Amino acid sequence: MSRKIIIDTDPGQDDAVAILLALASPELEVLALTAVAGNVPLPLTQKNTRQIVELSGLKTPVYAGCDAPLKRKLVTAEYVHGKTGLDGIPLPDPTYPLQPQHAVDYIIDTLRAHAPGTITLCPLGPLTNIATAFQRAPDIIPKVAEIVLMGGGCFEGGNVTPAAEFNIYVDPEAADIVFKSGVPLVVMPLDVTHKALTSRAWVEGMRALGTPVGTAVASWTDFFERFDTAKYGSDGAPLHDPCVIAYLLEPSLFTGRHINVEIETGSELTLGMTVADWWRVSGREPNAMFMGGVDRDGFYRLLTERLGSL
Ligand code: RIB
Ligand code: CA
Repeated sequence: MSRKIIIDTDPGQDDAVAILLALASPELEVLALTAVAGNVPLPLTQKNTRQIVELSGLKTPVYAGCDAPLKRKLVTAEYVHGKTGLDGIPLPDPTYPLQPQHAVDYIIDTLRAHAPGTITLCPLGPLTNIATAFQRAPDIIPKVAEIVLMGGGCFEGGNVTPAAEFNIYVDPEAADIVFKSGVPLVVMPLDVTHKALTSRAWVEGMRALGTPVGTAVASWTDFFERFDTAKYGSDGAPLHDPCVIAYLLEPSLFTGRHINVEIETGSELTLGMTVADWWRVSGREPNAMFMGGVDRDGFYRLLTERLGSL
């Protein structure tokens, strides 16, 4: 029986690879993709999400959600993802339709319509849609099986400030709601994603597939890589969001600890920091499986196998 998931996303080249990985995996039933403002504004993240579905040839419904954080001005990341959010390869304007319902209402209605513990939420961007759904319909919170998200950092620090990772930084109040919700959490922080670095051989292997998906993934990765290799001097770029989907497919690729993680929402200096009690010194209740390691070769083997099937 495949696992029902809703992917909440702000494409973003790495979101795109994560979505394609999920759509290529029969173990997962992607009920829908819900777009949120993040890497680029909502009109672009919803358009990019539709383009990705169109590229996959599948018919997964796409919903548009919140266009701004709960309490703050939107911060975007065109400097990483380009002005479209999916720079790297020109894609035709999508003809694939956007669903008329607001993504938050879709999330609420869908969780209410399914048995408790049957739906996993997979946020790949700021947590605005998820937090808004929880605020508007607290009854759905105990019905969520698990939230597996990309966000935060511990020993790796932040990528948008010294203390904060982008997804959490954009909407720290939303992250605080999600991390305090009591829903079982699995967190893929920069400590993991910065070990999931692409390699030239892998990117060229994607290009060598000679398929529209392989060509797109190679082109997106080439574009996305330039920023991180310049910033970190690394050979390859961190494929952040696909770690969420890879965990659902092969959890043994990852290692981590069940610890307490809280979100800084007060200090301007450390706003959006995931305060991860890795050494369990706070006495606070553990609320998240916080990942720290990944089998990089296994991760890219899985990606090649699945993306090669589209
Ligand atoms: O910090 C990395 C995260 O921010 C990724 O999800 C990327 O797509 C951006 O949303
Ligand atoms: Ca993302």
